[in-house]
Amino acid sequence: MRLCMCITRDTGTAPHAQPSVRSSGSRGAKAPHVRSRSEINGAYQKQRAPVPDERVPWSVAWPAYAPIEFTHESVAKQPVWADPVDASRIAGLRDRLSYESSPLTLAPNGRPLNPFGRTGTTGRGLLGKWGPNHAADPIVLRARPDGVFEMVAIKRRDTGQWAIPGGMVDAGEVVSVTLRREFTEEAGALDDPREQAALSSALDVLFGSGGSSVYCGYVDDPRNTDNAWMETAVHAFLLPADLSAKLPLQSGSDAADVRWLPLDEQLLGGDASALYADHLRFVMLALRQVGGERVRSPSAENART
Ligand code: BGC
Repeated sequence: MRLCMCITRDTGTAPHAQPSVRSSGSRGAKAPHVRSRSEINGAYQKQRAPVPDERVPWSVAWPAYAPIEFTHESVAKQPVWADPVDASRIAGLRDRLSYESSPLTLAPNGRPLNPFGRTGTTGRGLLGKWGPNHAADPIVLRARPDGVFEMVAIKRRDTGQWAIPGGMVDAGEVVSVTLRREFTEEAGALDDPREQAALSSALDVLFGSGGSSVYCGYVDDPRNTDNAWMETAVHAFLLPADLSAKLPLQSGSDAADVRWLPLDEQLLGGDASALYADHLRFVMLALRQVGGERVRSPSAENART
């Protein structure tokens, strides 16, 4: 495990002074990036060629590898958040910021190669950018009187799983701004202006602290392809008890639901798919930082790197 500073996309500086874990993503795990080879996301049904575990690394020669080319039509029509169709025409593509691979490794056709290996799909799937697509994830925690921590979680519309209320970093946006914006959009979409004002001042205090940086790097996300993948910067924020009472929650348009999710034995010791993508692993790292890691079960150990 290596330590790194999370850097912002536009300035390349470290906004928060704490070191964050730049974990090896799925690289060291027994089965490498399993979600990136899955069809859990409905749009990827029949869009992946099977890739056995041992053939995931690019270093393993596999001349017969026949991935399926898939770029979703919503991406191919090139909305503002998406790259041009032809990766080889993008100036400076190799030098795009990546927490994992800098410079990016390009295939002979000019497309970046997923640093964690084959996924069974080429193209960009549902992702807009060739190479790394950057997200930011705020883990907002509070401690219950019985010592169990709870986290603000949203229910995602794409897979129906509970998740951290994070989202994509907009072009030119710094991670600290994305963390607050996404949290507000996904979990704090309040109609009542008085509630909105109360939330806004609670968030000033919470996000003003910068939180603590717990992870930056690759995410084993079901939307990943051989040429486009998710990376994220995860920050943890611990709510003082008085503030948590002032934090009304209401899901926004991207989320089907929002709640305080108890990080109890059942969740932490259970199946990693209880939360979206690598989010259970990020939550374990966050709890370790705030001293709230009370559950030590064999499967929770597996969720760590
Ligand atoms: C989500 C983040 C997540 C990232 C990578 C984004 O769509 O909003 O919460 O970490 O994808 O999976």
